[in-house]
Amino acid sequence: MFEVVSNEVLAPDLHRMQVKAPRVAAARKAGQFVIVRSAKGDERIPLTIGDADPVAGAITLFIQAIGAATRKLVAIPAGGFIRDVAGPLGMPTEIEKWGRVACIGGGVGTAVLYPMAKALAAAGNSVMTVIGGRSKSLIILADQLSAFSDELKITTEDGSLGRQGFVTAELEVMIADPERRPDAVFAVGPVPMMRAIAEQTRPHGIKTIVSLNPIMIDGTGMCGGCRVVIQGKSKFACVDGPEFDAHQVDFDILIDRLSMYQKEEAHACQLASTATKA
Ligand code: NAD
Ligand code: FES
Repeated sequence: MFEVVSNEVLAPDLHRMQVKAPRVAAARKAGQFVIVRSAKGDERIPLTIGDADPVAGAITLFIQAIGAATRKLVAIPAGGFIRDVAGPLGMPTEIEKWGRVACIGGGVGTAVLYPMAKALAAAGNSVMTVIGGRSKSLIILADQLSAFSDELKITTEDGSLGRQGFVTAELEVMIADPERRPDAVFAVGPVPMMRAIAEQTRPHGIKTIVSLNPIMIDGTGMCGGCRVVIQGKSKFACVDGPEFDAHQVDFDILIDRLSMYQKEEAHACQLASTATKA
């Protein structure tokens, strides 16, 4: 059992949870994730390790309550317990001294970007961060990211904060400016955003890494649930990723596979809400 140290609402339907998991906190590297189960028999939920405090033996998780299982997880208060926290899983972020890196976070993907950007800054890179969301209330971690970023730009689709539009508008300006043109780009967010960024950087030959979030079940490379196609070859995001070269990702297959269980998820949510009302 793993104790929940704190549980706070960061944005609508997005929670930041600190969980006691000393072995994971000591071993994890940026980019890795855990698989969590609220109680015995519950659905397994893959979650990026947002941060870790090896001294306190705690990890930070960012949880978007979008389905029945994630809603149950975020309902566990501080002092409560999570049945399983398995990890760290996946390959760590490729941390190199790239020079100037652009770190781009779209919506909830910003929580996954945070540990990558922090590790890239710690390795001596100059980090230019862009985060975007539909509106001001959905912009997260701006202060935490600006603490180590050389510059932080914000975009909102409704113009309520920063530049009006998508994160790609800020990246376009960076690429066009010889003083700010990134040597590498790290992007995490909705699939259409990551695909758009891959197409933006491809003609310029800028190395681009994306973090993929296909459906995961066991997290050990055995079930095949997280299969993605990279440069025409099947890979498993849980053991070969979740980060891949954006220019090699087959985004069409990723989109198809992500929509496979939409009907079942809607049904599970309906059952959970009926059970809550009863
Ligand atoms: P959203 O749809 O509100 O988009 C957030 C921002 O991403 C937008 O404001 C915009 O700046 C950018 N964006 C979106 N579509 C774009 C496009 N076509 N071109 C350029 N920029 C674009 O995001 P949300 O609702 O917070 O996120 C939900 C999605 O993010 C879900 O699909 C979820 O699966 C995904 N997600 C991915 C990861 C990951 O690891 N890749 C992690 C968490 C969430
Ligand atoms: Fe089962 Fe990756 S989650 S193979």
